[in-house]
Amino acid sequence: MINLTKRYVSQPNKLSVLTLFLFTFLHTLTIASADASPKPYTPHDNIALNCGSTTNTTDLSGRSWISDNTIYLGQSSKVSVISTSPTEGDPIPYTTALLSPSQFTFSFTVTPGPKFIRLHFHPASYRAFNRSNAFFDVHIGGYTVLSNFSAALKADDLKLEVFYSEFCIYADEEKLNILFNPNPNMPDSYAFINGIEIVSMPNNLYYPSDDDTGFKFVNQVNPYRILKNQALESLYRVNIGGSSISPTQDTGMYRSWSEDGEYVTNGRPSVLPVNLIISPSFSVIPNYSAPVPVYRTARTMGTNKTVNENYRLTWEFRVDSGFTYYVRLHFCEFQVEITELGDRVFQIYIDNIVAEHQADVVSWAGGNGVPVYRDYAVMIGRAGNEMKRNLSIALHPAPAWRTRYSDAILNGVEIFKLSNEGNLAGPNPQTIPISSPKIFVPPPRRPKYNLRTTFLTVIGVVSSFVVVSALYILIFRPKSRGEGSSSWSQLSCKDYSSMDGSGKVYSSVGNHSKDTTSVADNKC
Ligand SMILES: *[C@@H]1O[C@H](CO)[C@@H](O)[C@H](O)[C@H]1NC(C)=O
Ligand SMILES: *[C@@H]1O[C@H](CO)[C@@H](O)[C@H](O)[C@H]1NC(C)=O
Ligand SMILES: *[C@@H]1O[C@H](CO)[C@@H](O)[C@H](O)[C@H]1NC(C)=O
Ligand SMILES: *[C@@H]1O[C@H](CO)[C@@H](O)[C@H](O)[C@H]1NC(C)=O
Ligand SMILES: *[C@@H]1O[C@H](CO)[C@@H](O)[C@H](O)[C@H]1NC(C)=O
Ligand SMILES: *[C@@H]1O[C@H](CO)[C@@H](O)[C@H](O)[C@H]1NC(C)=O
Repeated sequence: MINLTKRYVSQPNKLSVLTLFLFTFLHTLTIASADASPKPYTPHDNIALNCGSTTNTTDLSGRSWISDNTIYLGQSSKVSVISTSPTEGDPIPYTTALLSPSQFTFSFTVTPGPKFIRLHFHPASYRAFNRSNAFFDVHIGGYTVLSNFSAALKADDLKLEVFYSEFCIYADEEKLNILFNPNPNMPDSYAFINGIEIVSMPNNLYYPSDDDTGFKFVNQVNPYRILKNQALESLYRVNIGGSSISPTQDTGMYRSWSEDGEYVTNGRPSVLPVNLIISPSFSVIPNYSAPVPVYRTARTMGTNKTVNENYRLTWEFRVDSGFTYYVRLHFCEFQVEITELGDRVFQIYIDNIVAEHQADVVSWAGGNGVPVYRDYAVMIGRAGNEMKRNLSIALHPAPAWRTRYSDAILNGVEIFKLSNEGNLAGPNPQTIPISSPKIFVPPPRRPKYNLRTTFLTVIGVVSSFVVVSALYILIFRPKSRGEGSSSWSQLSCKDYSSMDGSGKVYSSVGNHSKDTTSVADNKC
């Protein structure tokens, strides 16, 4: 506490806060109009194939999907074209499908190097073809990426009408084959596909450069190194504490980023700091690593040291057991108080094992406002018959003598499944008897979403820090400490009471403020 009070002698005064506030608004306007700005990365191969379509089409985001399947489809393949539009969302590429009870192959010409391959599925009953009967294998190059795959079971499990699976492979030849093979052991089986994307990625984004020695393998002695003959499946790509980011807003690779609300463990406090005035400085990692908005939002624990030391801020992600997973954690310290080594030091647990004893983002990045990421591998073993398990990522403050603030931060997460002897395929989700016709019931909205939405709407796209500071100064005008009084603890308490991850406003909000005031009083 004494450290805390000493730190904040040079806070922005009222005028500079207001200037920042205005600047934020102006900046926001600039962002809104700058969507067509050049992307940090331009993929050399960028194929988007709308399978079964006879015309070239453009999706709602303006991306064009080409039609001519015969360039890519092997001559011997006998396929039918079927169309059924999804009831909502973008109809491209989900309206038409190529479908066959026997195997068929697409053959693409690509430049050698690492690629994203996205397979888009809309499991619908196509006339004689019952959606429940499609069970098939998919092989990309020499890898088995899906096996006895039921797109219908997966869509039902996700509670989605359409979805895509994203794989990463390192193409070392100019020919890339994608083979669809119906499972001969299942009655009336067939295979289908609605859309295929092949997009190049930068050389050392996920696949390491030749001199790279690998990264930490949690609970193992030796580091893990991804090999070029391994395939990856991207399972989760999450903008922690922020909103979802669509493929066209990515850095040029058409990745999509989701919100973290459904993964963060309920009932534990957290705050969602935002800093939209920061222009992250990509001096450590390349600017295509993740879109800028990932580094402008985060989730932290809050400022109550006692509370923070008694829990772990945790996210849980369902994965197939029996595979090794590649976890990338994105960080950027954008809160203006966190500028020096030791300001915010925390522990990172992956699958309940310590992956990092003292994560210090400022030390990794060399300063405030500089994005970094850290990679880890973790083996998720199979216990008994459990086909699925949760992979957890948890943060906890370092011991108090090691950190100025007992807090933790995370900005983004990516989780990939790593192929094992050329295989990435896992089991289908457990069959849940579903009544037909199927009714889509929107998942119940937990209050935290509402709270967060309200927060984001009210505060809008401007920095909560700046706004709350400004409000605090303008409304409360603390008398005892003069102008330079917007201390982190005060405004974060406001964050803290309203943004508790459980959606409950703390009953002790009054006490928080009171305690904070007394901290402030100690300062004088
Ligand atoms: C990304 O970084 C590269 C290399 O540093 C630079 O040439 C390029 O202009 C940057 N692009 C954007 C959109 O910031
Ligand atoms: C669709 O687009 C591709 C690639 O741009 C082009 O080669 C092809 O001729 C187009 N096909 C039609 C039917 O316009
Ligand atoms: C599709 O198959 C499922 C399960 O085999 C069956 O319950 C359903 O009635 C079938 N639907 C149609 C339209 O035939
Ligand atoms: C696994 O994580 C999900 C959220 O991703 C959660 O809903 C579920 O309760 C967790 N299951 C277990 C057994 O912890
Ligand atoms: C394919 O998956 C279904 C659904 O999970 C399962 O019931 C069936 O036994 C599997 N068939 C084979 C041949 O693996
Ligand atoms: C931190 O939380 C504890 C438990 O809720 C509470 O007793 C204490 O007053 C809080 N401290 C501060 C500084 O807000």
